[in-house]
Amino acid sequence: MLDLEEPLNTPRLLLRPFRTADADALFDLRSRPEVLRHLYWPPATLDGVRDVVRQRLTMTRLAVDGDCLVLAAEERATGRLVGEVDLSLVSAEHRHGEIGVILHPDAQGRGYAAEAATALLDLAFDRMGLHRVTAGTNAGNEASARALRRLGLRQEGHLRQCVRFDGAWHDELIFAILADEWRARR
Ligand SMILES: CC(C)(COP(=O)(O)OP(=O)(O)OC[C@H]1O[C@@H](n2cnc3c(N)ncnc32)[C@H](O)[C@@H]1OP(=O)(O)O)[C@@H](O)C(=O)NCCC(=O)NCCS
Repeated sequence: MLDLEEPLNTPRLLLRPFRTADADALFDLRSRPEVLRHLYWPPATLDGVRDVVRQRLTMTRLAVDGDCLVLAAEERATGRLVGEVDLSLVSAEHRHGEIGVILHPDAQGRGYAAEAATALLDLAFDRMGLHRVTAGTNAGNEASARALRRLGLRQEGHLRQCVRFDGAWHDELIFAILADEWRARR
């Protein structure tokens, strides 16, 4: 069980719970075609994003299967919200979690995803005692696959046409890393 009381610090980011005031920045992030290109979401509306933020105000706890910790990624130097990151508890019994990272285009290509994911993996393995962490990504999402491989996750699956979105079938890649493998890299 994890109840996040303190934000997570990385060298350049603060990963902290969402606040009501984050709605505009999250709307900006979620309405960009280049961000949504490999996600299965329609472009956001401001009201929709306000609802999302409302739900997230309390998404800081991982206790039962399906719980999701969602944090805003704030650039420490500027205080600007540059992304959103999450860690879900897939199965407490099998000690399995899943991570995800979404960055604003201005914040990509700087190693921020690696920093944020490192903090999530430390949390998953060191503080929660998880055994295995996975990440799923659209098969065409090369930046995501590259980032995951660089972190040491291995591709374990290629699920053919497993998602139906926007009138088309999409393939998903599944990446994973085990606790021992993560510790060996740290
Ligand atoms: C997937 C995503 C988070 C990856 O972000 P990213 O910034 O490319 O990933 P990283 O943090 O690993 O950054 C690595 C890149 O930054 C560069 N970089 C620059 N400065 C760096 C630094 N100080 N440290 C590390 N890398 C640095 C690296 O060379 C690398 O570039 P390359 O990929 O062209 O080789 C991003 O593309 C994204 O948000 N996409 C839209 C949403 C999405 O699809 N999310 C994934 C859902 S599954």
